[in-house]
Amino acid sequence: MNIILLGPPGAGKGTQARHLVETRGMIQLSTGDMLREAKSSGTEMGLKVAAIMDAGKLVTDEIVIGLIEEKLAAEPGAGFIFDGFPRTLAQADALAALLAKLGQSLHTVIEMRVDDEALVKRITGRFTCGDCGEVYHDETKPTAEADKCDHCGSTNMVRRADDNEDSLRTRLMEYYKKTSPLIGYYYAKGDLRPVNGLADISEVQNSIKAILG
Ligand code: AP5
Ligand code: ZN
Repeated sequence: MNIILLGPPGAGKGTQARHLVETRGMIQLSTGDMLREAKSSGTEMGLKVAAIMDAGKLVTDEIVIGLIEEKLAAEPGAGFIFDGFPRTLAQADALAALLAKLGQSLHTVIEMRVDDEALVKRITGRFTCGDCGEVYHDETKPTAEADKCDHCGSTNMVRRADDNEDSLRTRLMEYYKKTSPLIGYYYAKGDLRPVNGLADISEVQNSIKAILG
């Protein structure tokens, strides 16, 4: 089963994707994580995209489609969660073609609905474990012990360079301009299932479970 988690920055895509990985053994493909990895390891591509990401703009379709193509080729039979991809109509068309080439299809597109005011609070309070990737929030999901990961015990907590109000404003503009047309695109195909992303993390998990069965 291949699914897309579609939603604005801070909607909870990464949080829900990790839960699906743990409970269903699916594979999370986050283009944001892949690009951040390239950025921190200083590859040529990473250096090229660093400033674009920090400013909150989208990187080129060609780069992200290439990243996804590589991952799909590496594990062609797996159940994928696409997190943060596709983000443009060109990326959506490319994904359909890549899956078709593997004899696979898309099961569902889960649209996570959250209003802008809540997104600002989520993004400005987010921190992540630099070792295992668990995502936390100052208010809604703090660690049990200050600055220590509940999941792996690491004290290496990181805050993203683009998690500030200026970059978030640009990320939201990019989302409404280039990504939100995908809502109509997948609705027309009959694949779209909305969930209330404003609910508690566990309630959102339950809504997704009800959709996926
Ligand atoms: P990316 O890493 O994909 O960032 P994003 O889409 O902006 O999404 P986020 O990771 O910020 O949010 P999320 O929805 O995963 O929320 P999370 O679960 O962390 O992309 C970063 C950049 O990379 C882009 O700007 C672009 O430059 C580039 N890029 C990536 N993909 C690309 C593509 N396909 N094409 C072109 N460029 C691309 O939750 C947020 C916070 O809220 C956390 O603190 C969490 O604990 C908390 N939280 C989660 N759920 C709830 C809840 N239900 N209630 C309360 N709090 C909650
Ligand atoms: Zn950890």
